[in-house]
Amino acid sequence: MTLDIVILGVFVADTAYRAQRQPRLGETILGQSFALGPGGKGSNQSVAAGMAGASVGFITKLGKDPFADMALATWKKAGVTSLATRHADDYTGAAYIFVDENTGDNAIIVCPGAAATINRSDIDSHAEVIKQCKVLMTQLEQPIDAAEYALACARKAGATTILNPAPAVELPTSMIALCDFVTPNEIEAETITGITVNSPKDAVAAAEALLAKGAGGAIITLGENGCLYHDGSNSVHVPAINAGPVVETTGAGDAFNGGFAVAIAEGHSPLEAIRFGTATAAISVTRPGTAPSMPTRKEIESLLRN
Ligand code: RIB
Ligand code: NA
Repeated sequence: MTLDIVILGVFVADTAYRAQRQPRLGETILGQSFALGPGGKGSNQSVAAGMAGASVGFITKLGKDPFADMALATWKKAGVTSLATRHADDYTGAAYIFVDENTGDNAIIVCPGAAATINRSDIDSHAEVIKQCKVLMTQLEQPIDAAEYALACARKAGATTILNPAPAVELPTSMIALCDFVTPNEIEAETITGITVNSPKDAVAAAEALLAKGAGGAIITLGENGCLYHDGSNSVHVPAINAGPVVETTGAGDAFNGGFAVAIAEGHSPLEAIRFGTATAAISVTRPGTAPSMPTRKEIESLLRN
């Protein structure tokens, strides 16, 4: 089996609660609404890439429960090849997502379940697809050691390596040096580099710190302000695209990374790939949910033409 993109990461069922505020300890409050849907950064990125037309495989671990069935149905619909194993003695991940009814801001607890046990042998099981892929991308919801090992295997095989270092955790410098592209948001960039990112100038400094740690290129995503790309010689600010009223921004980073990976696998330049990722994210925020809001290739291309 040949796949252009291999993604390692976590699937979780997103359980999203909209309420006026979060409850205090010991308190029960009534919320406005509830939604259940597929999520998890790695799975969302795989869905974004699949919807954008890439051949993509997703390495993860699931339980044997209804949430695992949701994962498999989600990938099938998006054209994502499952490289997942299922484990009867563990559960499929789930995430608690609090969405502030007034501001739309969110707070998330992720429990990766079976995916919390992903280890080097799970990566070795997919050595062949990794050897043949063009791009390997991962995040940090599963154990860091597995992410580092997957990046090392892909680099050895000559694939382009992308690390979306989310959620924010401190990382060994050796891991950054394995990455052709590192794509943190402001908070993740600060956690890794110690540089607080409040302005485009700060973003340049954080990008330079990532390059000094050995990254091939650094992309600091800046939410509604787009992103900052630094290739080691030059830095460029790429603005966000407005594709309509914002409905939900959860998963926008995943949309960006999925779209970016697709364009890189197709041989486009980093800047072109950033534009493609930016358009993917722009459409995703106009729709509810994370994975279900990922656009088709047609939608991305028509936004880029405008
Ligand atoms: O990046 C968004 C994702 O982060 C959500 O789908 C949630 O599951 C958390 O993992
Ligand atoms: Na969305």
